[in-house]
Amino acid sequence: MDQVSIGGGQTLTRVPFSDYQDPALLDQEQRLLFEGPVWNYLCLETDIPNAGDWRTTFIGRMPVVVVRTEAGGIAAFENRCLHRGSLICLDNAGHAKDFTCVYHAWRYDLSGNLKSIAFSRGVNGKGGMPESFNPDDHATRKPRIETIAGLVFGTFSDATPDIETFIGPEVSAALHRIASRELKVIGRFTEVLPNNWKLYAENVRDSYHASLLHVFFATFRINRLSQGGGIDVSDNGGCAVSTTHAPTQETDTAYDGIRSVDDGLHLSDPSMLDAENEHGDTVRQQILSVFPGFAMQRTYNVMAIRQFVPTGVGRTNLNWIYLGYADDTPRLRRRRLKQLNLAGPAGFVSMEDGCIGNFVERGAVAARNGVSLLEMGGNGVESQETRATETAIRGFWKMWRRIMGQ
Ligand code: FES
Ligand SMILES: [Fe+2]
Repeated sequence: MDQVSIGGGQTLTRVPFSDYQDPALLDQEQRLLFEGPVWNYLCLETDIPNAGDWRTTFIGRMPVVVVRTEAGGIAAFENRCLHRGSLICLDNAGHAKDFTCVYHAWRYDLSGNLKSIAFSRGVNGKGGMPESFNPDDHATRKPRIETIAGLVFGTFSDATPDIETFIGPEVSAALHRIASRELKVIGRFTEVLPNNWKLYAENVRDSYHASLLHVFFATFRINRLSQGGGIDVSDNGGCAVSTTHAPTQETDTAYDGIRSVDDGLHLSDPSMLDAENEHGDTVRQQILSVFPGFAMQRTYNVMAIRQFVPTGVGRTNLNWIYLGYADDTPRLRRRRLKQLNLAGPAGFVSMEDGCIGNFVERGAVAARNGVSLLEMGGNGVESQETRATETAIRGFWKMWRRIMGQ
């Protein structure tokens, strides 16, 4: 494939470090990208099963409320009071008949429509809002909603295609495989990443690093590049799924001589890696990503969603949602919880992802004119039957640059 050229002569194999560092990009990304032609993960449908159930979430840095309406539908609106801008909902989740802002008690219905204003006629005939003020002239910002496999996504752009088209057939198949039964949240927390959100967006698309940075993966043969698998990238470049199959060979010398792997190590409690084959296939790990800020993984019996939310140019909130199935047996639920020691900020595998973005930030702090290099697996963004490739990262940048006009 030809070198893919971007406006200004850039190629997808080079990313200027300024793209992670420029504070001005944070506002541009909010306006053009997160509020642009993309699907933002909002919550699980099961987070809001009954009318009046709500959860707060984010579209980029914008706080958002997602609500189950009286009619059984899903509504979402910017979590910003139309009066003077206070958060309308302060907690992570709850149940309500309507929403009243804490500051001056402006009241909203479950769909985020302004319904009433305290003291709008003033007190004792004095003060109050002018006659000309009409609540109907003031509307909260509402994203368009779509659901897929029990997940709720929102977009502010009419130009965003339906979610199935946006993520493409391969990512869709992986998503439906993981969400093949009703999902149940079995844990959630936020990990603060000391780095730009795009370094994490790259990391979840970078299966080439997994068995090298995460020594646990290669040592205990959970994920080696020599196992079968590959990466599928959506047509728009922004969404991808990496798949790892079970090892087929007893002896695997692919990692001999690579300093990060020590085959002399053994787990003193190997039961942590006792896996149940729930799907009857050879897939051991799948990590899928949806542009811009969503990833979902399945490693053995571990399932998790990761939503990454920029909070500053060099700071990101990583919202982890651990998942089981609603009909898990107690034994299987215990197994998932035990294997979840692989994930999270102190996970045997994921802990390194919590610091590697900051290693890049610190390494490249004085490199504004330098570039990050993405040549593994060529220079295109096509799907490949190998994970020794950076094709999905190049796909991320293809979409980022198209939307940002860079
Ligand atoms: S800021 Fe919400 S009522 Fe005043
Ligand atoms: Fe990783």
